[in-house]
Amino acid sequence: MSAIDRGTERAGLVAVVGTGTMGQGIAQVALAAGHPVRLYDAAPGRASRAADAIADRLGRLVAKERLTAADRDTALGRLAPVTDLADLAEAELVVEAILEELGAKQQLFTALESVVSDGCLLATNTSSLSVTAVAGVLRRPGRLLGLHFFNPAPLMPLVEVVRGAATDEAAADRAHATVAAWGKTPVRCADTPGFIVNRIARPFYAEAFRAYEERAADPATLDAVLRESGGFRMGPFELTDLIGQDVNEAVTRSVWEALFHDPKFTPSLAQRQLVASGRHGRKTGHGWYDHSEGAGRPAPHTAEPCEPPGKVALHGDLGPAQGLIGAIEAAGIPVTREPVGAHLALPDGTRLSLADGTTATDDPFAASVRFDLALDYRTATRVALAASAAAPEESLRSAIGLFQALGKEVSVVQDVPGMVVARTAAMLVDFAEDAAARGVASPEDIDTAMLTGVNYPRGPLAWGRALGAPWVRDTLRNLHHACPTGRYAPSQALIRRAAADEKLL
Ligand SMILES: NC(=O)c1ccc[n+]([C@@H]2O[C@H](COP(=O)([O-])OP(=O)(O)OC[C@H]3O[C@@H](n4cnc5c(N)ncnc54)[C@H](O)[C@@H]3O)[C@@H](O)[C@H]2O)c1
Repeated sequence: MSAIDRGTERAGLVAVVGTGTMGQGIAQVALAAGHPVRLYDAAPGRASRAADAIADRLGRLVAKERLTAADRDTALGRLAPVTDLADLAEAELVVEAILEELGAKQQLFTALESVVSDGCLLATNTSSLSVTAVAGVLRRPGRLLGLHFFNPAPLMPLVEVVRGAATDEAAADRAHATVAAWGKTPVRCADTPGFIVNRIARPFYAEAFRAYEERAADPATLDAVLRESGGFRMGPFELTDLIGQDVNEAVTRSVWEALFHDPKFTPSLAQRQLVASGRHGRKTGHGWYDHSEGAGRPAPHTAEPCEPPGKVALHGDLGPAQGLIGAIEAAGIPVTREPVGAHLALPDGTRLSLADGTTATDDPFAASVRFDLALDYRTATRVALAASAAAPEESLRSAIGLFQALGKEVSVVQDVPGMVVARTAAMLVDFAEDAAARGVASPEDIDTAMLTGVNYPRGPLAWGRALGAPWVRDTLRNLHHACPTGRYAPSQALIRRAAADEKLL
């Protein structure tokens, strides 16, 4: 057992270098776990100010009765700002959280290597640099790894434990056990661009931004659909306004560049323009939304009440949307069954089918309406619909009425391929399958990371199993047909999984 395990008398010394936002949070976590902690920062006075800030934060926890005054005092008694790197000599773990610059990090670790003992673990909190490259300059690179905390570190459970090409397995195991002992949720991952979360989360933003560029709907409507139908806690527009458009775009660009401009990771032109215009989100008062004082949040487009159809006919089955049938019957609308197809037919001849990467206009039937994917059709409070270019007004109205009869709000969006949730979910599943197949992380750790790091309503691999890999693959193939840049080409991993699933049928 490592001496830096929680609660032991021998809890080893943890050093935090770089005492800005992340360093302070990480130091607070290590202190709470019972370690003596030393703070070092290159900027004069910064480490002491960080210690004061941590004391303030612990004071606020005491005020909220989440910490006793005695525990706070004991913890603060173990905290010491230092002004000389040599004061970190006894550390058993150094966590670096300095500026995101390869040369600076390499220089720091080179200096640390000659200060700390051989048994000391060295960890970088980098979000976007290669851990392998940071360790490349060291005499003994085996003990350097990534410990990627999320902001705010005291509150966010996830820590990605990143093993560089030269990291010893034992060092990664020790770091993993330490972080687990700190009460965090560690996941192991390979040293690949964006690690787990910042890689797999890209399409959550990119698909919504692209739907906006395609004029599918405005940000408020797309956010509402992703929240209320997709089950995400926040929509991508409001979330990036909170994160900062500059910060979110920088992550997207860095992953895209590190992957040699892979089209699957292409940044958004609309977001680029936002960043270029200085509209960085809440912090500048304007982003996708206006955050200036007194500015209200625009309401999502929501359809007016329409008459529901008296009955519907189910042709074949609806695949991942089959759960809709129970909801229709529960609303008292009779459902008759026909053997062939994958759609609902309304009495006026309208065909309703799940978004699948084609458009309603692609259908040979004029009166065609697509409905978007929902995480769960029973609990979704909103559904997006899109009508074919030639659909009579009445077709759309009866489709709207059907979903309203199930107690849902309806947002009518433009007839773009894959609409909103379907394309987002399909891409997230594909990115997760691809990452698992490439050994970025284990399937379990991928789902854990997306559930705890970005609060997704379901792990993308579990979501993929619920949707069925063949549906995800076919949706992406249809999107790829509509937009043949390579962005939507299903990964080999997804194609293999879909083929294996089909063999089982
Ligand atoms: N902010 C986040 O949301 C977040 C999340 C995860 C990871 N990270 C990563 O964590 C690291 C720190 O980010 P931050 O947001 O806390 O930055 P920050 O700017 O708040 O703090 C950086 C601190 O490092 C100090 N510093 C700079 N060069 C130094 C050096 N050579 N030696 C010692 N101290 C030095 C600065 O004086 C400053 O106090 C970066 O690598 C960043 O990519 C940030």
